[in-house]
Amino acid sequence: MSRGFFITFEGLDGSGKSTQIKRLAAWLEGEQGAVKTASGIGAEVCLGAPLVTRQPGGTAIGDRMRALALDSRGTPLAPMAEMALMFADRAQAIAEVIRPALEQGRVVICDRFTDSTEAYQGGGRGLGSEIVRELHHLICGDLQPDLTLMLLPSLESSLARAQRRNERAAEHNGRDEGRFEREQIDFHRRVLKKYHEIAERECHRVALIEGDLSIDQVHKRIVELVAERLGMPVRE
Ligand code: ADP
Ligand code: TYD
Repeated sequence: MSRGFFITFEGLDGSGKSTQIKRLAAWLEGEQGAVKTASGIGAEVCLGAPLVTRQPGGTAIGDRMRALALDSRGTPLAPMAEMALMFADRAQAIAEVIRPALEQGRVVICDRFTDSTEAYQGGGRGLGSEIVRELHHLICGDLQPDLTLMLLPSLESSLARAQRRNERAAEHNGRDEGRFEREQIDFHRRVLKKYHEIAERECHRVALIEGDLSIDQVHKRIVELVAERLGMPVRE
C-alpha cells in the first residue's frame, strides 16, 4: 500500500496558515509537470494537486461541528465539550477524507490538527497536554503528520490580522467565527506557550517559522522544507 505525505499547518489565528496553504498547494500542483513522484520518505508519494482540508470542518458533518464550535453568540461551550467536538470532527475527517487520500499516496495538507487541540484546549483552556494526547491515541489511531509547519509571527500581528479578516467576513456573509479571537490576550499567550512546548517536544516533525516575515519569505521557507522532506528538487 502506498503511503502519501501528511502536512499540517499550525499557529495562532491570523498567523497566515490559509494564505500559505494556498501558495503551497499551487506550488505542488505546478511541480506535477516536472516530477510525478517523490520517494524521499521511503514510500512513493504522488505529486500534483494535493488534498487540502481544514479542522474544524472539511466534511459536511464537520462543517456543522465547526459552526457549533466557533459561533460566539450562543451559550459558551464547556471546555471538555469543546475538546470532544474537536475530536469528533477530526475522527470524521480522518475516516472520510485524510486516510483515503494518504492510502492513495497523495499529499494531504490540513489547516490545523491535534496540535491545535493541545495548544487551545490543553494550553488555552488549561485542560493539559496529557488528556489531549491520550484522546489522540484512542480516537485518531495515533495518525501523526509527516511534517508540521508551525507559523508563529508575533502575537499582536497575528491577532490583529485575524480580527480584521473576521470583521470583513462577517460583513460579507453574516457568519460569526469569532469565539476564539474574542478570548483575552492571556488565553492566546497560553496557546503560544503550548505551541512552543510542542515544537520542542516534536522537533522531528515540527518546523517552526517565527517572526514577522513577508508572505513571500514564509512561502520560500515552506517550499524549501517540503522539497527537502520529499526529496524533490526546488525549481526557482
Ligand atoms: P490564518 O489562516 O492563519 O488565520 P490567514 O492566512 O487568513 O491566516 O491570514 C490572515 C490575514 O493576514 C489575511 O488577510 C492575510 O492576507 C494576511 N497575511 C497572511 N500572512 C501575512 C504576512 N506574512 N504578512 C502580512 N500579512 C499577512
Ligand atoms: P481556523 O479556522 O483555522 O482559524 P484561523 O483561520 O483564525 O486560524 O480555526 C478556528 C479556531 O478553532 C481557531 O481559533 C482555533 C480553534 N481550534 C481549537 O480551539 N481546537 C482545535 O482542535 C482546532 C482544530 C481549532
